Amino acid sequence: MNDVLPDVVNVWQFLEQAAREVFAVYGFTEIRTPVLEKTELFCRSIGETTDIVEKEMYTFADKSGHSMTLRPEGTAPVMRSFIQNRLAARDPVTKLCYIGPMFRYERPQKGRYRQFHQIGAEAIGVEDPRIDAQILLMLHHFFTRIGISAVSLEINSLGCPVCRPDYRGQLIQYLEELLEPLCAECQRRYQTNPLRVLDCKVEACRLATADAPAMIDHLCGDCDQHFSQVRHYLDLLNVPYVVNARMVRGLDYYVRTTFELVTDQLGSQNAVAAGGRYDGLIESLGGPALPGIGFAIGLERLVLMLDKDADRTLLPELFIAALGSEAVEKAFVLMSKLQAQGVHAEMDFHGKSLKAQMRRADKLGAVHTLIIGDEELRSGQAQLKKMADGSQVSVHLDSLLKTLRPKI
Ligand code: HAM
Repeated sequence: MNDVLPDVVNVWQFLEQAAREVFAVYGFTEIRTPVLEKTELFCRSIGETTDIVEKEMYTFADKSGHSMTLRPEGTAPVMRSFIQNRLAARDPVTKLCYIGPMFRYERPQKGRYRQFHQIGAEAIGVEDPRIDAQILLMLHHFFTRIGISAVSLEINSLGCPVCRPDYRGQLIQYLEELLEPLCAECQRRYQTNPLRVLDCKVEACRLATADAPAMIDHLCGDCDQHFSQVRHYLDLLNVPYVVNARMVRGLDYYVRTTFELVTDQLGSQNAVAAGGRYDGLIESLGGPALPGIGFAIGLERLVLMLDKDADRTLLPELFIAALGSEAVEKAFVLMSKLQAQGVHAEMDFHGKSLKAQMRRADKLGAVHTLIIGDEELRSGQAQLKKMADGSQVSVHLDSLLKTLRPKI
């Protein structure tokens, strides 16, 4: 679990702001749910035999003995809230987004943490493949907006309760024939969760299953039609993608369209965002029979991909260096007034020499500096120095904001 320190928090804020701006254009509004839910919610939605539920949840009994879990993802809590608050009654289409911490007891490594943050979006109520394309367009738009292009969108279809059971049976049969080279984990799960074997990262498993049957070759007529329409609309909207027939998601609620946005910049944790359709989930949780589709972006992984020194850094507009107690007090009042007016201003609080104050102004990257000493107090005038080129203008201390405004 990580602290987000002041020197990178601007990158987080930039990403959060970009998501809010982009998602708003597509009609998504934010929902905030508790970080704690009943354990049962995740078992029923993500699936009992998934890695998340089997091994990765922070689960404990509260003081009344109820089993509670720190949310490992955002979709199930949002659906729980959607049902509980009867949001379906408000509009036939509900578009929700969220930003917040998730918790998984995973083996930590670069890009994989036990508390991590997701920016997610869920569109509920539409089965039409145009909404799948819209969701992917929005994801593409967001990545364009934040300036990350080193990602590739992989899509697949996982079929539905009509076509998947048959395919699943065929896959189990196929895997039974070649169990020996598979890793211990796959030998254990091929019966309970055979699709996951296709997604195993172990080289031996990948080689052994290279010719395994693929779900997209066994789709029923409706799923096949749906998937080809999704691709048609993505082409129409110029959203680049590749079909990855081996992609299987680690959560059981998915049907039909699934996708991952992958990068080769993060080592083995290559998915920066992922999602898909979950028609049937809301009904299985006791809600109305409504389809849904969404995604979640891993914020830590985005932060790793972004250059934290790029011009997103917010530098102080003004550093006020002051010498003498009267000047320090004047500087303090000036700085506070400017801050109240929305100007990022800084000063020294450690009684440092003028030279040391100027060094700090430099280190902070202040755009302007202002020096106030006895002479400036007497005349009410000071020199405002632009740090980039050293140019100076004389300013009235009492109308500093007016002078500074056009310069910012
Ligand atoms: P997920 O694939 O489990 O899907 O997670 C989505 C993204 O969260 C991943 O692609 C990754 O970027 C990030 N992530 C997951 N685990 C970690 C971790 N331990 N450390 C850092 N980042 C991580 C879901 O959670 C679904 N709820 C997505 C969804 C929304 N599907 C439909 N709607």
